[in-house]
Amino acid sequence: MIALDPSKIFDHAVEVLKENDQGGYTIPTKGLYPFQWNWDSCLTALGQSHFDEQRAWTEIETLFDHQWPDGMVPHIVFHVYSDGYFPGPNVWGTGRPVATSGITQPPVAGFAVRRLYERARDRQMAEKRAKALLPKIDAWHRWFYSHRDPRGEGLVAILHPWESGRDNSVDWDQAFERVPTDGVEPYTRRDTQHADPAHRPTKEQYDRYIWLVQHFRGLNWDNAKLHDASPFQVVDPGFNAILIRSCADLADLAESLGEARLAAENRARAEAGLAAMNALWSGTHGQYLCKDRVTGALIDSASIGGILPVFAAVPEDHARSIALTVERQAAAAKFIVPSHDPADPRFEAKRYWRGPAWLVTNYMIADGLRRVGETAVADRIVQSSLELISQSGFAEYYDPLTGEPCGGHRFTWTAAMVLEFLRLMKS
Ligand code: DGY
Repeated sequence: MIALDPSKIFDHAVEVLKENDQGGYTIPTKGLYPFQWNWDSCLTALGQSHFDEQRAWTEIETLFDHQWPDGMVPHIVFHVYSDGYFPGPNVWGTGRPVATSGITQPPVAGFAVRRLYERARDRQMAEKRAKALLPKIDAWHRWFYSHRDPRGEGLVAILHPWESGRDNSVDWDQAFERVPTDGVEPYTRRDTQHADPAHRPTKEQYDRYIWLVQHFRGLNWDNAKLHDASPFQVVDPGFNAILIRSCADLADLAESLGEARLAAENRARAEAGLAAMNALWSGTHGQYLCKDRVTGALIDSASIGGILPVFAAVPEDHARSIALTVERQAAAAKFIVPSHDPADPRFEAKRYWRGPAWLVTNYMIADGLRRVGETAVADRIVQSSLELISQSGFAEYYDPLTGEPCGGHRFTWTAAMVLEFLRLMKS
């Protein structure tokens, strides 16, 4: 049962978005994340569009102002100085005019911009701003397929767990063993000063995260070299599905804006990606699995990364199996969708992406399920999300067994997703 009045939840969500707004970009939360994060910002813009349309476009434009010349859009833009976050600009050493990290994040921009454009009240403004963003998003998509799919398999690899957005997922455990920790420069973690260490990745994982950053920095962040030089290359179905959905959405947007070439190129990327995704399907798990590109083997880990593909136009029988998988998980967890299958002994209810429920993934999964007519499961996900807010406030993520708030508090993208859910309930 939702105890809070929906109009109060709406106002509260707007308050969270406004208090984290830095003018042209929004920080995910105070303390833990003091800069602009890539996919946080694109999803935040959707929330902002419900009360300030202009501001929503600015959020994404600011991110793309820091796109690299090769097309990559970095996962963090360090707009201001803060020593409250590690690893900061000196560790990344990317040499950009405004400091950025050197890796990327799930490309939700194509999806988000299409949504902003379609719901725009000021049509002229939206057309102008969508037209300006279109080639930039296209360049990012092109970058993915040339630098992260160098052998033209149709699917891209992530080279660092942070790129997936699901930093410490069980998915990476095995491949991560190949990442050494020798030579890691001494460091002090900041995240564990802002959030409960039991909710965060381990020290051993941090050593490996930093080894990869130092390794890529040693290659001068040359994207022509990073893929083959990385001991960690994983094809994440969730990440690819987001890219595929963004390509398809960008293609539709380009078509409406009369950009036929961009439309055709993005359509072709989405189609090739969807065809290649079939090889990641696991009938046993009723979901997709990651693939370790170094060994060529599928990774036996039933995480939310394999449920997220329903966000793209995957075959209908796969989408239906995913709906059943979510239903099965709902019998084990009070709140859905857990980021790892509770039936797996590696599930950890409070540790970041090893079990907790997140509203951003809930949003994308519910959207995909609704598209294939699985409205009952989609509604259940929305209901569960709003119950979490009502019970535990706007946390970064939640223990799916108890609903306890975990990680950071007064979290921007959680608030943004709530505005989206409330809007969905009205429509
Ligand atoms: C962090 O610092 O926790 C991030 O997820 C890396 O982007």
